[in-house]
Amino acid sequence: MTTMKHIERDEQARAILRGNDRGGYTVPTAGLYPYQWNWDSAFTAWGLATFDTERAWAEIETLMSGQWPSGMVPHILFHRPDPGYFPGPDVWGADRGPIPSSGISQPPVAATMLRAVHESAPNEARLRPLFAALKAWHGWFMKWRCDGGAIFITHPWEAGRDNAPDWDEAMAAIDPVGVGEYTRRDTSHVDASMRPTKEEYDRYVWLVQQGRGHGWNDAEMAPVLPLRVADPTMTFILLRANRDLTALGLELGEDISELQAWTEELRTGAARLRNPETGIFDAINLATGQHTGNVSNASYLCWYAGVDDGTMLSHLDAAFAHCRYPVPSHPSGTDKFDAKRYWRGPTWAFMNSMIGRGLNDMGYDDMADRLRYATRDLIAEHGFAEYFDPLTGDPAGGGMFSWTAAVWLAWASPSVEGD
Ligand code: SER
Repeated sequence: MTTMKHIERDEQARAILRGNDRGGYTVPTAGLYPYQWNWDSAFTAWGLATFDTERAWAEIETLMSGQWPSGMVPHILFHRPDPGYFPGPDVWGADRGPIPSSGISQPPVAATMLRAVHESAPNEARLRPLFAALKAWHGWFMKWRCDGGAIFITHPWEAGRDNAPDWDEAMAAIDPVGVGEYTRRDTSHVDASMRPTKEEYDRYVWLVQQGRGHGWNDAEMAPVLPLRVADPTMTFILLRANRDLTALGLELGEDISELQAWTEELRTGAARLRNPETGIFDAINLATGQHTGNVSNASYLCWYAGVDDGTMLSHLDAAFAHCRYPVPSHPSGTDKFDAKRYWRGPTWAFMNSMIGRGLNDMGYDDMADRLRYATRDLIAEHGFAEYFDPLTGDPAGGGMFSWTAAVWLAWASPSVEGD
């Protein structure tokens, strides 16, 4: 039932998206993240499509305008200088694209969100160039980030799940020698207990320095990458996005044969992510070939990718039993669980939206409803935080957050279906 509280939240969510608008692109939140982030922007487009379709199209167009000639779409576009963020364009030293940017990418949700935008406000003339650009981006992943069909990350920021336990082993093998002094800016915006540690940051910055040392040249870096972890976030999201892009290509009458071949390859890669000992989908450290053994919220993206699975369903049921507000990014009650520290425990509403959509696609409608209603309560009671304590619902990280506002409007709010 829609209440006054929900209607207020609808209005607040639209106000957040308007307030974070910097003209053609939307920042995740003022202060902490003052630039255009790749997957944040794609989720924002999904939310914008509920009330301003023109802006929704523009959001994705601006994102793709930062594409490199290689096809890579950077994870941050530094449209305008902002001293409040570290590391900025001077640290990245990435000059291969038309806009100052980072040198790595991020999970490619854009094709899926573009499909939703096109459904809300069909526009073949705008869709066609975006189709070509997105296909080139997907092709870049298949060429430079694919190992036996699984998509790997080369930097924790590439997965978007910066300090997830999935990278602990690979990060521990890095000695960040020579990283030098630097000043973090994130902990001036948000309490340090909600952010990655200094040991992690030293390695994040060191990895950036390595890429910069190779001029962000994919061919030069490929044989010497210090970190390669096959990632459920990347693999499941690209598999889903590739299927959505195929549907858009069919509508446009484009050649979809290459996309179909990639989908088959990615299906093989997704199957590889199933841990043979536990049956869960988890990350694989490609340096050792070992599964990392963590049930993360990315493990539940299997359904979103179109991969049916019952094992993950029972884990999700357990997450509901242990947390008032699932899905935790790392299971509560385990050693590494940290309820408010970024990707080591907190619940992320935008991840829930992908898990929920996947559950619906697979016909697990009861579970999808449970998750959607729990996320609705979480946002209705605790606001538009970046992430939330899964046990108490306490808001954590940045506030007035674009993707939380967007998933409220596009998925969690009762206004979505008028229920
Ligand atoms: N998530 C990273 C940060 O916190 C960068 O993408 O700055």
